[in-house]
Amino acid sequence: MPGPTAVPPSTGDHLEIKDSRTGTSYRVPITDDTIRTADLKQIKVRDDDFGLMGYDPAFMNTASCRSNITFIDGDKGILRYRGYPIDQLAEKASFLEVAWLLRHGELPTQPEYDEWVHDITFHTYVHENIKQFMQGFRYDAHPMSMLCAGVAALSAFYPTSKNIFDERERNIAFIRLIAKMPTIAAFAYRHVKGMPYVYPDNSLPYAENYLSMIARMSEPRYEAHPVYARAIDILFILHADHEQNCSTNAVRAVGSSHVDPYSAVAAGIAALYGPLHGGANEAVLRMLTEIDHPKNIPAFIESVKSGKGEHRLMGFGHRVYKSYDPRARIVKRLCDDVLKISGLTKDMEIALELERIALSDEYFVKRKLYPNVDFYTGLIYRALHFPTDYFTVLFAIARTAGWLAQWEEMLLDKEQKIARPRQIYTGPAERPYSSILDYRHKIAK
Ligand code: CMC
Repeated sequence: MPGPTAVPPSTGDHLEIKDSRTGTSYRVPITDDTIRTADLKQIKVRDDDFGLMGYDPAFMNTASCRSNITFIDGDKGILRYRGYPIDQLAEKASFLEVAWLLRHGELPTQPEYDEWVHDITFHTYVHENIKQFMQGFRYDAHPMSMLCAGVAALSAFYPTSKNIFDERERNIAFIRLIAKMPTIAAFAYRHVKGMPYVYPDNSLPYAENYLSMIARMSEPRYEAHPVYARAIDILFILHADHEQNCSTNAVRAVGSSHVDPYSAVAAGIAALYGPLHGGANEAVLRMLTEIDHPKNIPAFIESVKSGKGEHRLMGFGHRVYKSYDPRARIVKRLCDDVLKISGLTKDMEIALELERIALSDEYFVKRKLYPNVDFYTGLIYRALHFPTDYFTVLFAIARTAGWLAQWEEMLLDKEQKIARPRQIYTGPAERPYSSILDYRHKIAK
């Protein structure tokens, strides 16, 4: 793509910029409704200036990559993986089929799918030392801390995974991470409960195998309720990717240093842990517990609206979706299915009333704050008896498929380099060092 020019010969779409400091005009090419901020660098007052930069804290209006994996239109409430609408995938596909699709861009053929499922199924076991590593955590360790550390530790078990430009290494890393994530996640669950870790049962499908590692006790074979197993599989599909969100950006940024994929995915898990990202479903449940009764909802809503920052309505609002989150619609239906079996909980009653009030309240309507996917997922996870602080782990298992697809896309993108933003320095100008401490004097003695 050509750079900007101070003379105006270019045809094609462009942005005309006049610098009031110098009176010079520039033409900056526009491609895909985007300008390259690097093109602004030639706009200078003096030859030795650094050049004009874009300032965009939190990437509010900056594209960091080209991607053909996930498409979101936040205003219209559209989410597609590789062109396929999320509702069709949630209804008809399996999570492992979606994981393949995210990586390869096309749906698998039958032989491809069979081999993929077989490979994932037979890499579910982890090295026994990983088990011991997990056993080293305190009884009250947060499962996301354990998951993050467990996945980071895998990097030490597969040292050749650092050969990231070897396609065979990437293939096996995809398989290992997608296969072992449920195992480590289940070990974390059992650890907190003080129960023996359950090894994978490779005669079971992905979601059923995971639920078996969670719930099996002395029975020779655990059979999950089919509605629960399908609910988990659908939730995994819904959470599998979400373009350049905080954790995916973390995976890409950390991966851009060419570290191995286990370390990059561990960075994604750390980012997902935060309450404004993957931790939101956990925060929703804590909020419902705090509200305690539908009669307390109006006071809670008032405290949210007061703007004192005391409360946010967790599970509402989204950086991208400014209409209904399309995943929320599907999860709400799923929630109904699960609750038909588990029974309506007090949480659900409060949640439904909260949703009803918020959707008709001017504060939320004006700011386009609608329920996001996390508003309902927490309710399902609670109905399945997962502890509240475990919810984000389920999100991480699913998002591994997206993180890896995005990581590989970043690696193979010739335009990408190590992620390294610029800053606007606001600190002191140069000043001479003159310490008031006397330790140097003591060292000299
Ligand atoms: N409750 C009350 N007010 C809110 C909320 C909320 N949940 N979300 C946004 N607002 C207000 C905010 O105070 C601001 O008001 P004003 O214009 O008067 O200052 C306005 O709405 C715009 O908010 P914002 O902070 O500029 O929005 P953002 O795009 O930076 O934040 C968000 C997006 C998801 C961090 C935020 O909506 C939020 O904190 N929601 C609650 C946490 C949550 O549910 N997170 C899960 C996101 S979905 C999972 C995922 O995809 O990662």
